Amino acid sequence: MRNETLRLILLLLLCSHLHSVLSWKKEEFRTCHQTPFCKRARSRAPGSSSLIATDVTISHGDLTAKLTPKHDSQSETKPLLLTLSVYQRGILRLKIDEDPSLSPPKKRFEVPDVIVSEFPSTKLWLPKISSVENGLSSSVYLSDGHSAVLRHDPFELFIRDDSSGDRVISLNSHDLFDFEQLKHKSEDDNWEEQFRSHTDRRPYGPQSISFDVSFYGADFVYGIPERAASLALKPTRGPNVDESEPYRLFNLDVFEYIHDSPFGLYGSIPFMVSHGKARGSSGFFWLNAAEMQIDVLAPGWDAESGIALPSHRIDTFWMSEAGVVDAFFFIGPNPKDVLRQYTAVTGTPAMPQLFSIAYHQCRWNYRDEEDVEHVDSKFDELDIPYDVLWLDIEHTDGKRYFTWDRALFPHPEEMQRKLASKGRHMVTIVDPHIKRDENFHLHKEASQKGYYVKDASGNDFDGWCWPGSSSYPDTLNPEIRSWWADKFSYQSYEGSTPSLYIWNDMNEPSVFNGPEVTMPRDVTHYGGVEHRELHNAYGYYFHMATANGLLKRGEGNDRPFVLSRALFAGSQRYGAVWTGDNTADWDHLRVSIPMVLTLGLTGMSFSGADIGGFFGNPEPELLVRWYQLGAYYPFFRAHAHHDTKRREPWLFGERNTELIKDAIHVRYALLPYFYTLFREANTTGVPVVRPLWMEFPSDEATFSNDETFMVGSSILVQGIYTERAKHASVYLPGKQSWYDLRTGAVYKGGVTHKLEVTEESIPAFQRAGTIIARKDRFRRSSTQMANDPYTLVVALNSSQAAEGELYIDDGSSFNFLQGGYIHRRFIFSNGKLTSIDLAPASSSKGRYPSDAFIERIILLGHAPSSKNALIEPSNQKVDIELGPLWVLRARAPAVTTIRRPNVRVAEDWTITVI
Ligand code: GLC
Repeated sequence: MRNETLRLILLLLLCSHLHSVLSWKKEEFRTCHQTPFCKRARSRAPGSSSLIATDVTISHGDLTAKLTPKHDSQSETKPLLLTLSVYQRGILRLKIDEDPSLSPPKKRFEVPDVIVSEFPSTKLWLPKISSVENGLSSSVYLSDGHSAVLRHDPFELFIRDDSSGDRVISLNSHDLFDFEQLKHKSEDDNWEEQFRSHTDRRPYGPQSISFDVSFYGADFVYGIPERAASLALKPTRGPNVDESEPYRLFNLDVFEYIHDSPFGLYGSIPFMVSHGKARGSSGFFWLNAAEMQIDVLAPGWDAESGIALPSHRIDTFWMSEAGVVDAFFFIGPNPKDVLRQYTAVTGTPAMPQLFSIAYHQCRWNYRDEEDVEHVDSKFDELDIPYDVLWLDIEHTDGKRYFTWDRALFPHPEEMQRKLASKGRHMVTIVDPHIKRDENFHLHKEASQKGYYVKDASGNDFDGWCWPGSSSYPDTLNPEIRSWWADKFSYQSYEGSTPSLYIWNDMNEPSVFNGPEVTMPRDVTHYGGVEHRELHNAYGYYFHMATANGLLKRGEGNDRPFVLSRALFAGSQRYGAVWTGDNTADWDHLRVSIPMVLTLGLTGMSFSGADIGGFFGNPEPELLVRWYQLGAYYPFFRAHAHHDTKRREPWLFGERNTELIKDAIHVRYALLPYFYTLFREANTTGVPVVRPLWMEFPSDEATFSNDETFMVGSSILVQGIYTERAKHASVYLPGKQSWYDLRTGAVYKGGVTHKLEVTEESIPAFQRAGTIIARKDRFRRSSTQMANDPYTLVVALNSSQAAEGELYIDDGSSFNFLQGGYIHRRFIFSNGKLTSIDLAPASSSKGRYPSDAFIERIILLGHAPSSKNALIEPSNQKVDIELGPLWVLRARAPAVTTIRRPNVRVAEDWTITVI
């Protein structure tokens, strides 16, 4: 009997497991083994296609060389051209391509419009080769303390720390470099590739590139989104490792993706960051938009080569189907330096509108105007703030974007105006697939103008997506991007108003009947570029065109908001992204954190996951936990599949509504802090949410922690990822203490605490030594809070000191670029709080005018002996007393509070505790 039960349980377990695995249609997607270039590269032995650097010289401020084959067997290999350039901030760029003077059959694709226009001017013109060591290697200056060294035979590139002689990062140290040169097709060549029922004609034949990159002084590598996997990338090959698929970068619409897989999802950023205790961080970025596969190699993977491995080195192996080598090396050494360096090349994240960092309410679909009105008014009735209501594909007339289903949405302008009257906004979806309907003006125009991507026979590519038969605008072409951008003008997009913003979905692109649910690789784009060469950037150009459309619509002074599903390096300049179609289960809640952290580490600061999980129906507890965690995502949006039950915040009983409302309130209270962080990201590239090690780079205990994270440098958050959790172990790094955000209770740093957990909130802490600005009055939307007063939460450290910043502007225009902002630093020391102006003096003319004042200053960790505070220059005295840490939260503990100092946020002042 017991055996029977056991068998039954096993069977049930197996079925549930099978369900989760089978829902991901694995067989629809290629493995490395089924991808010839990946299979070839992975099986190549080191040294089999060795190249030697010759003719090393300085030309136009760059180091140039030829790469010629070492072995006679490579007689078909023509010399390749290598160029090394050095840029400010410790950035090295390596380009390797075929030599145009040797007439290759086709120019290989170099991804345009990703590198920002300012970057080339930061080039340091190399005057000379700084040393040639016995003809064996040549080195050039890279930055103070670092050189770039090119070894000649076989060619290898590495960056050296000049003081220690240690290497930082290198390419081709294992002689795995291989560059398949284009050749003219001979009669015997059969270049076609087959996958399932699809044939890829591959008219240009094999053209892949692969090489090894090594990171020194590194304990872990991170980055290369997008996938559902741990933050620290696990080895995919090598001793004691279950060989797995390489990490794949190929933008795909993956139905019901699983929560732990190296498989690539909707976006690709070929940028890896290393981190280790010994040295800190470095980074490597390969600007290439073709399919890429990357192995992380476990120590000893090349045991047979006999090379003695320095410890703390991580080797990786990069393979791409096409393109050129255009690679960037970043020396760090601080993790934040790497982000500054990477975003100097690809751009910092756009400054978002304030409303877009508040709470978004979405679902597939809000049915009609009545539904919209009902949802909107329910938020008011329950005093839950929200900023944006979203409409998914069903709002259109038959999935023709830029149109409305007039039976369901007869008065779109009025609907938007009603929302706008409460400071709210609307977002509608505009996907790239255009319905092939002769009566649809957009299709007619695009096909007449020849603006669609072409199939292998030169006709408009016709693929299947939501509207049925569809074609796709070729937004690689700047002219087509400009045409697309015009479609967002108020005249062109009927029913749109200034409070309407846009959602770009399915832009991988998703093609239901295409190979791997996307576009065939042999379709062609502008300039004869094959889709295989630019696939990972298709969505990027579409996102760019849409964002430019909103920019045009707003006459250049309204910041666009465009959410995109597909992404590439540089997408951070055009808007937000989300992690696609996740599932309502605890594992997906958990993996959302490493996914968002990884996106932030690779420049995409503005991201989030669907709150509640897109597929399936979350239990109320999961939904509440998701809101509590999601309130700290940079992009905070609830969304759900149309087959799920409705799940607006009020549908799970009063208690759960209260809990969700409280989570949303936390986000609204922290909006000034978040907005300040978004501005920091906009100026430095440092992301809004960060792995712990970005703030505590020498604390090894943080390196692989991806359940806990930092919001900026002041708040630490620990998600609760299990059902009915009663306790959580939380590691609080650093020497300073931490204050519980909710209760003000103080916890020691450098210790793992076992904390009791209640349903009311997830653990979150303010770091001692920091000051955070909050807004504690809740209104319908963030817009309506613009002039509300601030609360400053001063969390004192062991020296009774603290510091923090606050950035304010009008929340929507580009006036901040002309100095239209307020930027303050608050410093508390020796019992005195001082507000210092951080905005440059030259900007004072156009400074953002704000009458907002500070209504409350909370002092955490302050001995409660003082009774008064003196404000200067006004020379006024105010009371210090016990007040609630949170005004609107039940049972909020009492803490030392300077009440009603009422100093203006825009002015200089001091407040001294007496
Ligand atoms: C895709 C999107 C999802 C959206 C749906 C319908 O699955 O990822 O968010 O709701 O399409 O547009």
